[in-house]
Amino acid sequence: MAEIVIRNLRKEFGAFTAVQGSTFTIADGEFFMLLGPSGCGKTTTLRMIAGLELPTSGEILIDGENVSQKPASQRDIAFVFQMFALYPHMNVRKNISYPLVSQGLPAAQVKAKVAEVARILGIESILDKPVGGLSGGDRQRVALGRAIVRSPKAFMMDEPLGALDAEFREHMSEELRALHDRMKATTVYVTHDQLEAMQMGDKIVVMNHGVVEQFGRPQDIYDHPATMFVADFIGSPAMNFLRFEGVAGQGDTAVTLGDATITLPQLQESAPGKALALGVRPEHVQLTDAGQLRGRTLATEYLGTTQIVTIDTAHGTLKARAPASQIVKTGETVGLNLTAQALSLFDTASGRALRTAANAKVLHG
Ligand SMILES: Nc1ncnc2c1ncn2[C@@H]1O[C@H](COP(=O)(O)OP(=O)(O)O)[C@@H](O)[C@H]1O
Ligand SMILES: [Mg+2]
Repeated sequence: MAEIVIRNLRKEFGAFTAVQGSTFTIADGEFFMLLGPSGCGKTTTLRMIAGLELPTSGEILIDGENVSQKPASQRDIAFVFQMFALYPHMNVRKNISYPLVSQGLPAAQVKAKVAEVARILGIESILDKPVGGLSGGDRQRVALGRAIVRSPKAFMMDEPLGALDAEFREHMSEELRALHDRMKATTVYVTHDQLEAMQMGDKIVVMNHGVVEQFGRPQDIYDHPATMFVADFIGSPAMNFLRFEGVAGQGDTAVTLGDATITLPQLQESAPGKALALGVRPEHVQLTDAGQLRGRTLATEYLGTTQIVTIDTAHGTLKARAPASQIVKTGETVGLNLTAQALSLFDTASGRALRTAANAKVLHG
C-alpha cells in the first residue's frame, strides 16, 4: 500500500522534453489513470514512477520517501506490461510462483501465497494446466497473478487491455476494477481511451504534449474541464465550442454572442483577451422553438434513447443530445437553449477555462 507524490517531474531525451514538470498526488489505494493521446508522455511518467527511467528533475515520493534516484529494485512496484508475457514452458502455478521462488521464499509459503492469489483471481481450477492452451482471459489473469503475488506497494499498468477486442476488453476492465476493489492496492493505469479512464478511475490525470492539463475526479473533469484540450478530449461527442469575440469581466453572469445573451455561472475573473469560446456539452443543448441563439439542423444520428443532432450556428457547428422521441427535421432553423450552470467559458489564446462560481472548487484543489 502506498501514497505516491509527484512533484515537478520532468524528463528530457536529448533536446526533446517528454514530460514538462508534472505535479499530482496518487492517494493510497487509489485506481489512478494517466490519460492522454499517443506520445503525450504517459509511459515515460509511469516508467519514472516504477524506476525504469530516472527523471531529469523533480521528485517522486512513495509513502513519504524520496525514491527519485533509486533503481526499480528498491521501489517494490509491480509493472504490468501491455503484452502480459508468460513463461510458455511452465504451468500456471509455476508462472505465478516464479517471483517468490526467485526471492528464495520457503516452499510452504509460496504454496500458500499462490493459493491465495488463485482464489482472488478465480483460477484455482487451472493451476496445474500449461499456459499454452489457456484462453486470452485466463492468460491475463495468470499474468496479473504473477504481478500481485509479491504484494508490491503499487501496480503500474501500461495500456494492459490495449491489444484486446472491444467486448473482451470491457469484460477485463470490469474484472480489473473488481480485483482492485478487493485488494485496494494503489494502481496507476495508463490509457489513451477517455471512456476507459472515466469508467475505471478514481482520479485521472489528463496529459498533452508532456503537460498535465488537469488532475481530478472523473466527474469533476467532465463537468468542469480546465482547458479546451480537456473539454475536447473527454466526452463523446466532445464538448462544443461556440467561438465569439467579446468582453467578459469578473462578476458577469452573461456573455453576448451576436444577438444572443447567454447566461452562465458568475465569472470570478476577467478574460485577458477578446477571443472567447463558450463550452457546452451536447446534453446541455436543448432544441426549442424560441431561444435567442439560432441554428440550422444539418444531420441527426439515432442512438436508441437519444439522438445526436448536428446544428450549424453563426459561432460554429455544435452537437446536441436530444431525446430520441423529439421530432427533428434536417434543414430546419431551431432555437437553442443552453443549461446556464453547465457552461464553461474559455480564453482561446491560452485555452484555459475562466474561473466561475461553478468550477472554482475544481480548478483550485
Ligand atoms: N527513450 C526515448 N528516447 C527518445 N524519445 C523518447 C524515448 N521514450 C519516449 N520518447 C518520446 O517521448 C514522447 C512521449 O513518449 P511516451 O511516454 O511513450 O508517450 P505515450 O505513452 O503517452 O504514448 C514521445 O514523443 C516519444 O517519442
Ligand atoms: Mg505509451
